Amino acid sequence: MRAYFDHNATTPPDPAVTQAVVRALAEDFGNASSVHHFGQRAKAVLDEARSAVAELIGGEPTEIVFTSGGTESDNLALRGAAEAAEPGGRRHIITTSIEHEAVLNTVKALGKRGWTSTLLPVDASGLVSPAALASTITRDTAIVSVMHANNEIGTIQPIADLAAIAHEHGAVFHTDAVQSVAKIPVSVKALGIDLLTLSAHKFNGPKGAGALWIRRGTRVVSTITGGKHERNRRGGTENVPGIAGMGIAARLARTKLSTGTASLAALRDRLEAGILASVQGTVVNGARESRVANTTNISFDGVEAESLLIALDLEGFAVSTGSACSSGTLEPSHVLRAMGLPSHRTQNSIRFSLGAGNTEAEVDALLAKLPATVGKLRSLVRR
Ligand SMILES: Cc1ncc(COP(=O)(O)O)c(C=O)c1O
Repeated sequence: MRAYFDHNATTPPDPAVTQAVVRALAEDFGNASSVHHFGQRAKAVLDEARSAVAELIGGEPTEIVFTSGGTESDNLALRGAAEAAEPGGRRHIITTSIEHEAVLNTVKALGKRGWTSTLLPVDASGLVSPAALASTITRDTAIVSVMHANNEIGTIQPIADLAAIAHEHGAVFHTDAVQSVAKIPVSVKALGIDLLTLSAHKFNGPKGAGALWIRRGTRVVSTITGGKHERNRRGGTENVPGIAGMGIAARLARTKLSTGTASLAALRDRLEAGILASVQGTVVNGARESRVANTTNISFDGVEAESLLIALDLEGFAVSTGSACSSGTLEPSHVLRAMGLPSHRTQNSIRFSLGAGNTEAEVDALLAKLPATVGKLRSLVRR
């Protein structure tokens, strides 16, 4: 048996997505910029996907820019908004200490071209406070970027309140919604934001396809210069198969969201409660209320997270020690560190992220193995 509990790293493509990718690759191979029949077929695929992605987040199709994924969308949002702001003289960006590296390292790179930055702290439950933003923002602040849901602990930030503060000060607001889109209903209008990043492979779509939603009127300078693709906002021939798959994934996600995420939350809660009850010295990291339904992050006292990950993998269970990008290193999670957790808890935490394909039987199989696996690792450490 192999059970996959790492859906925040990536998700398996839905069979309908795979079909759409293959069909677009084989049949809709035209260049969407060509005026002939083949080009127009490819353009029709893009148009349909653009509508599907826009509907998933409550935006307009013309506000969607297709990219190669979440990382590129974060880059386009921050570098593009920064370049647009520079002539006005503002050069300060605010983000948080728990962002994905796609945002944190882009903010760092902006520092090399004269931008100053502030990383908002989070409280012990991993939440950013609007009061902290209000006391930090200045007339020099051009951009505020706060992720919607965190990839390691799943906590959902008060984006609408934060965006309102940014706008009161004339700053543009971006949210990295890679981990919230398709997990909770996302409406760009209700959130009152200007820029939103999403990535197809996090919601059963293909890798290498994503989008940046740019509210009409928001100034963003293209970072990939080239042809006039994507209304001059991202040069390069569009990845028609990937985008076709993302469109189908967006349509499926919308349907699934309309029936609710209660069963996924019940499965996650079964796993979480089972672990807390059967393994001594365990604690859930992050807010348990304001959290996406699929994620739980748990520290196991006296166990090194990497060892537990490997032991579980050998037993057929795929989990993560936090963000996929930092696995393979023994670096403590920057998210848990920012929450002020003691060092032993930042180094012994495991992220379980569930998805539509997981079953009660898989959860129960993991619960049946986990106490003995943890016990064995603890006895090795004690020797
Ligand atoms: C919050 C967040 N932002 C951005 C990304 C990067 O997305 P992509 O893998 O599509 O580049 C990820 C992926 O792990 C993520 O979790």
